Amino acid sequence: MQSWAPSSVLVTGANRGLGLELVHQLARAERPPRYLLAGCRQPESTRAQDLMNLAKSFSNIKVLKLDVDDYGSIQECAAQIEKILGNNGLNLLVNNAGVGPGGALNEVTPESMMNSYRTNVVGPVMVTKVLLPSLQQAAWLNDEFKAAVINMSSILASIELFDNKIGITYAYRASKTALNMVTKCLANELKPHGIICASMHPGWVQTEMGGEKAPLTKEVSVRGTLQVLSTLSAKDSGSFLDWKGQHLPW
Ligand SMILES: NC(=O)c1ccc[n+]([C@@H]2O[C@H](COP(=O)([O-])OP(=O)(O)OC[C@H]3O[C@@H](n4cnc5c(N)ncnc54)[C@H](OP(=O)(O)O)[C@@H]3O)[C@@H](O)[C@H]2O)c1
Repeated sequence: MQSWAPSSVLVTGANRGLGLELVHQLARAERPPRYLLAGCRQPESTRAQDLMNLAKSFSNIKVLKLDVDDYGSIQECAAQIEKILGNNGLNLLVNNAGVGPGGALNEVTPESMMNSYRTNVVGPVMVTKVLLPSLQQAAWLNDEFKAAVINMSSILASIELFDNKIGITYAYRASKTALNMVTKCLANELKPHGIICASMHPGWVQTEMGGEKAPLTKEVSVRGTLQVLSTLSAKDSGSFLDWKGQHLPW
């Protein structure tokens, strides 16, 4: 069976870290997406420079303004996406944008809890909700399933694998655990539409969030993640997978 090569992809938080590397590797793939949509909250800022430079080299990359904390921004972005894709629909949504505030009980604040919930949970739900017609369109156009939502989660969300040596970060862990529940809900609700949904742990990776001590490079993590995505099938919907394709416990 040939591996899945989605023809339209949206990556949120695509200006740096894993999001940028996803766009980078998808653009260079053997069968690159025809439409590679890179969501970024401030395309005009210096933080988006690398993404803008990449977009100059690949005509399929479209950089779109998208702040997942802002419902108006999500709606505007979705309208642009519908225009760009026409009747083609969106095959793959990667809810990658995220924030990773640290903090044990003595450091956690109402703001850090709410901010991480807004970006890591409310954002992916609202982006998926608003893009559902495009995802459905892509699923209808294919004989078998081929529309998917991937939520970038973390092994730190796993209650069963809880390890306090890694640090008790209330805001981050709780938000990613909530995101995993969102994955389960979406997998169930979207199944009749032929859209699958899974949570993905990319490994501990050297990015601004992961820090310099992380053992994995972005290149290796994203190569693994894309390999896993290329073999996704309906049986994986509602799963929590890591970048090597292993199933993680909730
Ligand atoms: N790195 C790791 O070790 C690791 C491990 C497990 C899971 N993850 C998950 O993988 C994903 C990517 O992580 P990363 O390591 O690449 O993080 P990162 O280097 O900190 O990058 C985060 C990205 O999310 C964007 N973002 C944050 N808030 C946003 C918002 N409201 N709207 C749109 N974009 C927003 C950032 O944009 P700005 O530049 O505008 O801030 C940036 O592009 C996250 O969901 C993270 O939780 C990472």
